[in-house]
Amino acid sequence: MKKKEFGFATKAIHLGQEPDPSTGAIVVPIFATSTYVQDELGKHKGYEYARVSNPTRTRLEQNLAALEGGTSAHVFASGMAAVTAVTQCFLKQGDHLICGHNVYGGVPRLFNQVLANYGVEFSYVDTSDAAAVKKAMRWNTRIIWIETPTNPLMVLTDIAEVAKVAHAGGAELAVDNTFMSPYLQSPIALGADMVMHSTTKFLNGHSDGLGGVIVGTKPHHAEKLAFMQKAAGAILSPFECWLVLRGVKSLAVRMVQHDKNGRAVADFLRKHKKVKKVLYPGFADHPQHELAKRQMKGFGSMITFETGSLNNAKKMLRKVRVCSLGESLGGVESLISHPATMTHAALGEHGRKEIGLTDGMVRISVGIEDAADIIADLDQALAAI
Ligand SMILES: Cc1ncc(COP(=O)(O)O)c(C=O)c1O
Repeated sequence: MKKKEFGFATKAIHLGQEPDPSTGAIVVPIFATSTYVQDELGKHKGYEYARVSNPTRTRLEQNLAALEGGTSAHVFASGMAAVTAVTQCFLKQGDHLICGHNVYGGVPRLFNQVLANYGVEFSYVDTSDAAAVKKAMRWNTRIIWIETPTNPLMVLTDIAEVAKVAHAGGAELAVDNTFMSPYLQSPIALGADMVMHSTTKFLNGHSDGLGGVIVGTKPHHAEKLAFMQKAAGAILSPFECWLVLRGVKSLAVRMVQHDKNGRAVADFLRKHKKVKKVLYPGFADHPQHELAKRQMKGFGSMITFETGSLNNAKKMLRKVRVCSLGESLGGVESLISHPATMTHAALGEHGRKEIGLTDGMVRISVGIEDAADIIADLDQALAAI
């Protein structure tokens, strides 16, 4: 059987995770070293200096490239460091990037408050409308950057459609696949050129490390991203690489449980009289439910719900006990957050209003605790409203 034919869980556990050839250790070692001893001038074992490459990092990059179906992967110190690397590698002064209008707030913050100072142009578009993306294309558009489903409004973009628009205009499509993980969504198979993850989330899965990855599909992705690791140096440390290697071994089973618990919590919230609205692509009446069924292998565990006001959100969030109030998502533990004052504060009131993000919205990353306990916790917390 060829490695390419292995199922997802087998790939996650074995690709890049082969036993250490020097000792037989079944777990990839943490190569805590800054440099490598060379046999003689110009003769070494493929590793020269740890900013350039590290065997633990190599193994993780092999694993993540395989899980996303790409040809290369490069890991960085955080998800935002990975986004930065893409812009450093593939954009220069005078270039234009089209970005989804309700992606993770840190992305437009980087674009508007850092990269705009270097003469890069940005347009923010509702990428759920492929015609709007087409209209926004310019002669100098190099990248379309999307997140699907979006954070926190759970709006989907048709990856295959937007990939066609990008390619017709000579641009590349990059997809932030953090919310779904490679288990539930495969953007490259749908035509995306690059996939990004904050490995901090589902890939690590245990809320114990930051990280980011860019999976590429073309030789110039691999060349430029490897060069940027060496040139700019925002690489992932061997220990954090090891944590992600350990985390992905259980990605398949975790995602099955996340998805199952997500369905149970979404159903509960929808029936709750204090909850005004639930944003979740698994509902048959979600405007893009058909696309969700076609494009994703499940609906994930990210759910946003409307409590009615900032005060209501505050009251309930003060009461949660099983769910932890905090930024981030994708850990085994249920994390609950308030996008308007936390992840999307940088968008400003006007920016949030424009995309329909209200002060009463609460976002939950449903963990893999017993669903009944998560539901009981939300029920008692909602009673405070
Ligand atoms: C969808 C998404 N993309 C990117 C990021 C940024 O990743 P990091 O926090 O690892 O820098 C986040 C962080 O919350 C995110 O949720």
